[in-house]
Amino acid sequence: MSSSPLIEIENMSKVFYTDEVETHALSDVGLHIDSGEYVSIGGPSGCGKSTLLSILGLLDTPSNGTYRLNGVPVEDIDVYERARIRNQEIGFVFQAFNLIGELTVAENVAMPLVYRDGVSKSQRLKLAEAALERVAMAHRVNHYPAQLSGGQQQRVAVARALVGEPKILLADEPTGNLDSRNGEAVMALLEELHAHGATICVVTHDPRYAEFAQRSVHLFDGRIVDEETIHKLREEEDVRIRKLIDNARESTLAANT
Ligand SMILES: Nc1ncnc2c1ncn2[C@@H]1O[C@H](COP(=O)(O)OP(=O)(O)OP(=O)(O)O)[C@@H](O)[C@H]1O
Ligand SMILES: [Mg+2]
Repeated sequence: MSSSPLIEIENMSKVFYTDEVETHALSDVGLHIDSGEYVSIGGPSGCGKSTLLSILGLLDTPSNGTYRLNGVPVEDIDVYERARIRNQEIGFVFQAFNLIGELTVAENVAMPLVYRDGVSKSQRLKLAEAALERVAMAHRVNHYPAQLSGGQQQRVAVARALVGEPKILLADEPTGNLDSRNGEAVMALLEELHAHGATICVVTHDPRYAEFAQRSVHLFDGRIVDEETIHKLREEEDVRIRKLIDNARESTLAANT
């Protein structure tokens, strides 16, 4: 199976059903990612980026279509193997960090190592501290997530995703809350992991960071669109957003006169 892509998605859709609304978060998505590739995923808010990443990371399942991971249809992977893959092969940086409030920073980062055979608690904490050092958070090992700033929590979430040296790293806006220096540091860490052979999928709005990737995938309204289409759609959206801003300014002016 080594010739097939690591990630192979065909005709995939994801529909969320809430009280009375049906949301088509992804429609007819096809995506192949080879082992060792570095791919960025972009597109406007609500277009399905996080949904796609969750499915890639086995945290959610598609409504229709197929997803083969390493040649194996994911619906054929049982719940234990799924958990093992998530824990040992995939590193995930959540958009909302998802740190555990009751655990310290070091314990949070050590979490992915808990199920590794032959790694003692003290070794886990040592590895966690080393990972925290790489995101310049070693001075906060005994803090709790609520005692950190948003950007600091994000860096801890990055350390947690990297600590187990995952084969696949899925990062959802890992620099969204960071200043440019810390943002660049995080991107350099992803680059380093990639250089060591990992497959990287990063959601980013920032074109500077998208350039780190070998290939960019653009989503719009749940569909993958090509570069030319996304430029056109972006321009249309810019006009729409500019109108919203102008309207808001006008009503502010009206209120002040
Ligand atoms: N659990 C859910 N239940 C219902 N609808 C959902 C759920 N998760 C996502 N959606 C909807 O699916 C669509 C895609 O959401 P998603 O979070 O993937 O967007 P996104 O591209 O990551 O946006 P952002 O850039 O704002 O993070 C949105 O319309 C959202 O409201
Ligand atoms: Mg998102």
